[in-house]
Amino acid sequence: MLKDLILKNRSYRRFYQEVAIENDTLRELVDLARLSASGANRQPLKYILSCDREKNELIFPHLTWAAYLKDWPGPSEGERPSAYIIILGDTGISKQFFCDHGIAAQSILLGATERGWGGCIMASIEKDGLRRALKIPPRYEILLVIALGKPREKVVIESVGADGDIKYWRDSDAGHHVPKRSLDEIIVG
Ligand SMILES: Cc1cc2nc3c(=O)[nH]c(=O)nc-3n(C[C@H](O)[C@H](O)[C@H](O)COP(=O)(O)O)c2cc1C
Repeated sequence: MLKDLILKNRSYRRFYQEVAIENDTLRELVDLARLSASGANRQPLKYILSCDREKNELIFPHLTWAAYLKDWPGPSEGERPSAYIIILGDTGISKQFFCDHGIAAQSILLGATERGWGGCIMASIEKDGLRRALKIPPRYEILLVIALGKPREKVVIESVGADGDIKYWRDSDAGHHVPKRSLDEIIVG
């Protein structure tokens, strides 16, 4: 069921770093994005794949993890992603990317979840540094980074409480809690 897959497809930020993801798997995931919807069917998205330690280490320092968790600087060595897919916008094809990258990211993550992997969409990116580190040509706009790996944390969905707070939080066992608004709150007409 699609709902089960969507429920399982949480944002994971801690992984079994030693569990490798093959480049072919990343290619299969990008193929799902390739087949997804695109504004005016321009298909301006391009991708950088990373599943080796050296390249992963070039990417990691340019990402900001879980901004609401003030005391957590991000995954420590041993629990970092074993792969990344970077979504780029090719400005030689289009100057506007509409929501293509969001749709692509969701296709990639649903495919990853179906295969037993997990990940996190990252938009808080230190883009100049990442561009320099990977020598990304200026024609490509850096849109999103998707971190991927074997999830090492428990993520629980719960209802937003009476105080309306939507911030995710961690319990004393490092369980990650994500408040979601109710269906009645979000359907306004
Ligand atoms: C467009 C977008 C950008 C995001 N950027 C980041 C990010 O830079 N760093 C991060 O740790 N999480 C990021 N996230 C993950 C969200 O924090 C996460 O989706 C949210 O907390 C809800 O959790 P869930 O995905 O498990 O439902 C991003 C998610 C989206 C959709």
